[in-house]
Amino acid sequence: MSANTRQKQVAIVTGASSGIGLGMARALLEHGYGVVANSRTISKSKDLKPSADLVLVDGDIGKKETAIKVVDAAVKQFGRIDLLVNNAGIYMAKPFTDYTPEDFETMIGTNVAGYFFITQQVVAQMRKQKSGHIVGISTALTDQPLAGAPISLPVLTKSTIPAFNRALAMEYVADGIRANTISLGVVDTPMHADDDHEVLKKLNPAGRLVQVSEIVDALFYLQSATMVNGENIRIDGGAHAGAKW
Ligand SMILES: NC(=O)c1ccc[n+]([C@@H]2O[C@H](COP(=O)([O-])OP(=O)(O)OC[C@H]3O[C@@H](n4cnc5c(N)ncnc54)[C@H](OP(=O)(O)O)[C@@H]3O)[C@@H](O)[C@H]2O)c1
Repeated sequence: MSANTRQKQVAIVTGASSGIGLGMARALLEHGYGVVANSRTISKSKDLKPSADLVLVDGDIGKKETAIKVVDAAVKQFGRIDLLVNNAGIYMAKPFTDYTPEDFETMIGTNVAGYFFITQQVVAQMRKQKSGHIVGISTALTDQPLAGAPISLPVLTKSTIPAFNRALAMEYVADGIRANTISLGVVDTPMHADDDHEVLKKLNPAGRLVQVSEIVDALFYLQSATMVNGENIRIDGGAHAGAKW
C-alpha cells in the first residue's frame, strides 16, 4: 500500500493537556494521526485546538462515563482506534502513615481506575479491528524506591501498570492487540514545576531530567516494533539498573 493510500492511524491520549501527554498528542498529530485527547480541562487548553484531526474530550478518566465518551468520540470521528496511551496520572508524596482515605481514593481513581475503564472500552473496539496497541506510563521508582523519598502510594498505583499490560498482552495476543509500558525517571514537566530541579537531577545517574521528546521517541519505537509485546521500557538514565551513583 502506498503512503498516501495507507489508512489514517488513530490514537487516544489521556492526560493530554500538559507535560508528557501534550508532547505525545502534538507529535502524533505531526505524524498524521487522528487524535482524541482527554483531560479534565482539555477544552480550555491553549496548546491544543480541535480540528478534523483532533477531538478534545473533557472528563475525569477514572469515571467509566468519561471512558465511554472518549471511545465514542474516536469511533465517531475516525472509525477506529490504533493506539491508546494511558498517560493521565497524578503524584502525591507523603510519609506512608499520613495518607488519608481521600488521598487513597484520588490516587487509585486516576492512576488505576483511569487506566481500567478506558482500556476496557478500547480493547472492545480493537478486538473488532483485530489490531491495536495499548501503552501505559509508569515510574522507574517502582523498581528502585529511594530512602528519603516517601512514595508508597504512587508506587502502589503505578507498580500495577507493567503487570496489567503483560496480562493484557497475553490475553489479547490472538486478537492482534499489543500492550506495553514506558517507565520513567523524573521528567521535566509541569508536574515538577515547584520542585527543586537540582535535587531532582541527583535522582538520576545521568545527572539530568528526562525530556518529553525522549518519551515520544520511545512511543514511536513501540508503535513500529510489532513484535515487542508485554515489554516495560525504562527511560530513567539507568536508575533502575544501579544501586548508588
Ligand atoms: N513527570 C515525571 O517526573 C513522571 C515520572 C514518572 C511517571 N510520570 C507519569 O507520566 C504521566 C504524565 O505525567 P506529567 O509529568 O506529564 O504530568 P502533568 O504535566 O501533571 O500532566 C498530567 C496530565 O494528566 C491530566 N489528569 C490528571 N488527572 C486526571 C484525571 N482524573 N482525568 C483525566 N486527566 C487527568 C492533567 O490534566 P487536567 O488537570 O486537565 O485533568 C494533565 O493533562 C503520569 O501518569 C505520571 O504519573 C511522570
